Amino acid sequence: MTHRILLTGGAGFIGSHTYLALVEAGYAVTILDNFENAMRDVPDRLQAITGKPVPVITADIRNAAQMQDALGQGFDGVVHFAALKSVGDGENNPLGYYQSNCAGLMNVVQAMEHHGVKNIVFSSSAAVYGATDQMPITEDTPLEPISVYARTKVFGEDLLSAYAKANPDFHVGILRYFNPVGAHASGLIGEDPSQPPSNLMPVIARVANGQMEALQVFGDDYPTVDGTGVRDYIHVEDLARGHVLSLDALFKNQQGHLVNLGTGQGHSVLEMVAAYGKVSGREIPYNILPRRPGDPAVSFADVARAKEVLGFAAQHDLSTMCASNWAFSSKEK
Ligand code: NAD
Ligand code: UD1
Repeated sequence: MTHRILLTGGAGFIGSHTYLALVEAGYAVTILDNFENAMRDVPDRLQAITGKPVPVITADIRNAAQMQDALGQGFDGVVHFAALKSVGDGENNPLGYYQSNCAGLMNVVQAMEHHGVKNIVFSSSAAVYGATDQMPITEDTPLEPISVYARTKVFGEDLLSAYAKANPDFHVGILRYFNPVGAHASGLIGEDPSQPPSNLMPVIARVANGQMEALQVFGDDYPTVDGTGVRDYIHVEDLARGHVLSLDALFKNQQGHLVNLGTGQGHSVLEMVAAYGKVSGREIPYNILPRRPGDPAVSFADVARAKEVLGFAAQHDLSTMCASNWAFSSKEK
């Protein structure tokens, strides 16, 4: 039986890659997006890759009636990506972040309840762990969300876990992503936000292709290999596969799970600059600035539970992550 899946935020960076992975795995997938942080031509690009029409519902998760209509179209599961995700913006616009990430999620769950949709995969973030110094980070590491954004993700996890506890036939996969980067091997889709980027790799890409003069490196006095921050970068195609495995597990096991999705390996900002410079053949000028408030020195995942529960292990290395991003970014505009 073909399961029908609704991807809220499916036109975005992770959603669009997950769309392809799910279609390839045999799921029937529909994208729901309001395109506030996605390019309008993403569905056309996805169609160019799959050779099949891409079902799209243009709707806003903050609109309860629209969610009722969407979930009424017959789905077996939801992957909920739609959210606002900039930590800095969240501090300036808490109401907007709670509206999209919390009230929006509640509209989705309410519509799922109304239409008897019993499976959801939720995009959470390593941000829920805050600036812990317990490495690697396991799923049992205490949560210390230090931003509005991170608190909205903890809210989402709490709501879904409580709802599943109260409704034992409702199954939730909570995926805590580390640092997703890279692009699809086709070079047709990648990280292409309609808002200015603040994450490292899209900024490096803009420096490499001349749209920005230099990377601002936030701090070189951390207790790390070269003083710059260390993160667990994971290829977005690996992450997308993690969603397929998560849905497979929900349907097969009829029970939920909560897992980190990362590689288990950390790389510093300057290692990233060197790797990107190598694959692009471009110089990446950079300046050292003070630390960015709220940034932990080091963050990388314990990946044992993802392996055990989902059979998930990341396959792509840093060079592939950079090369795929460059293939996409150097094609743009
Ligand atoms: P993205 O901004 O590229 O994708 C989010 C999509 O949701 C966009 O297409 C946007 O237009 C859509 N959207 C936003 N608000 C909406 C609304 N009110 N109604 C309908 N659609 C709406 O972000 P992404 O990087 O693909 O992230 C996807 C999810 O993963 C988010 O929940 C994010 O918080 C989470 N996450 C991302 C990262 C990361 O580094 N990219 C890390 C951890 C967790
Ligand atoms: C950030 C968010 C995190 C969110 C994730 C995905 C913060 C504190 N954390 O993670 O909550 O889940 O994005 O959206 O914002 N860096 C630079 N110069 C730059 C950009 C980044 O030096 O222009 C450095 C950072 O200091 C960090 C590393 O690069 O050491 C990675 O930064 P980034 O890509 O923003 O990810 P996180 O900070 O890990």
